[in-house]
Amino acid sequence: MDFGKVKKLQAQNFRNLASSVFEFTSGINCIFGQNGNGKTNLLEAVYLLTNKKSFRKNTGFAQMIDIEGGQSQLILQSAFEKEGELVSYSLRMGEELEERFLNSSPEKSKTPSSSVFINPFDSYSFHTSSTFRRQWMDSHMSLMDKEFRQILGRFQKSMRFRNSVLGMGGKNASFQLRAIDEQVSEYSAILTAKRHEFLNQLNQFITPTFRAIFAEENTLQMDLDSLFVHWDAKKIFDFYRHQESNDIKAEITQVGIHRDDFIFSFNGLNAFEFCSLGQQKMAFLSLIFAYIELFRYKFSSYPIVLIDDVSGELDSRRWKNLIEYLETKNFQVLITTANENFGKELERIPNSKKFFIEHGGLKAPG
Ligand SMILES: Nc1ncnc2c1ncn2[C@@H]1O[C@H](COP(=O)(O)OP(=O)(O)O)[C@@H](O)[C@H]1O
Ligand SMILES: [Mg+2]
Repeated sequence: MDFGKVKKLQAQNFRNLASSVFEFTSGINCIFGQNGNGKTNLLEAVYLLTNKKSFRKNTGFAQMIDIEGGQSQLILQSAFEKEGELVSYSLRMGEELEERFLNSSPEKSKTPSSSVFINPFDSYSFHTSSTFRRQWMDSHMSLMDKEFRQILGRFQKSMRFRNSVLGMGGKNASFQLRAIDEQVSEYSAILTAKRHEFLNQLNQFITPTFRAIFAEENTLQMDLDSLFVHWDAKKIFDFYRHQESNDIKAEITQVGIHRDDFIFSFNGLNAFEFCSLGQQKMAFLSLIFAYIELFRYKFSSYPIVLIDDVSGELDSRRWKNLIEYLETKNFQVLITTANENFGKELERIPNSKKFFIEHGGLKAPG
């Protein structure tokens, strides 16, 4: 599989982006600009084209349209370089319409590339919330594994149904639960096996990546904290029978893979308990870059890497380490910063392309 590199982008009515044509290089693209000028919006446009949804939470069409423009449609036009050729790709979105075109032909499923979005503010949520961790891992696994995504969707639907049955109570609950649990158990077994396998693969890259970026001697690993590892569907079904009366009393499913967690271990110790904030941020970044390496291992091609304003997160030494790491890699990067000191480091990168963003458009450098 070849994931394309974004070469051109032009937006109409997308948030505050002006109609400037952005021309990107296949290497490192540095995006500068004061806060509130549209840097993140530019990354969001690339993400929306490549991953078919926004990384911003709870954002829908109504939030993405240019509120000042007064138009009821947003359009993103782009060109991607794929296997040495340029392909055009566009997205048109309205209140009740979403159309995508690849080389002028309607295209529903395929996108010309895939991208990973790095917002190191997430490192805080990742270390403080198990719900966030689970969602982060599940959504990133879903990007790589279509079957996982489909089964996860079915599992969540069955679990909602299970909880609504429990919520209604009544003497039929037990009978209904058995039918639902046939499916819940089957999905749980598959999803757990996939999560386990994913971590085995990811772990081959985490420590080497951590060491490569941050010149660390320490080891880092991600483990699945679950009762259900290596359980088959039958064993999970029996477990739910055993739990049934408790669940009926509580009116909700108390135990299951929907509560499973992911634990970072740092030299064998639980990183959430033992690591400093700085170490936790490095651990999170190492996890994402390990994921990007796994991505290439699986698909023989890198995704586009979107790195949004990490300046508040890393000290200057670690920022420098990160930039040096990016320079050794041959993936396409779009990286933003509003921080002048961090900007200076970016400006030094040879062969990188610089963009200065003001009011959503390109400003001449200088
Ligand atoms: N739907 C919208 N329509 C018009 N402007 C928007 C919309 N959504 C966000 N903005 C504007 O985009 C700007 C924020 O852009 P953002 O990319 O987050 O800035 P930066 O990353 O450079 O700090 C704000 O000025 C905000 O008002
Ligand atoms: Mg921003």
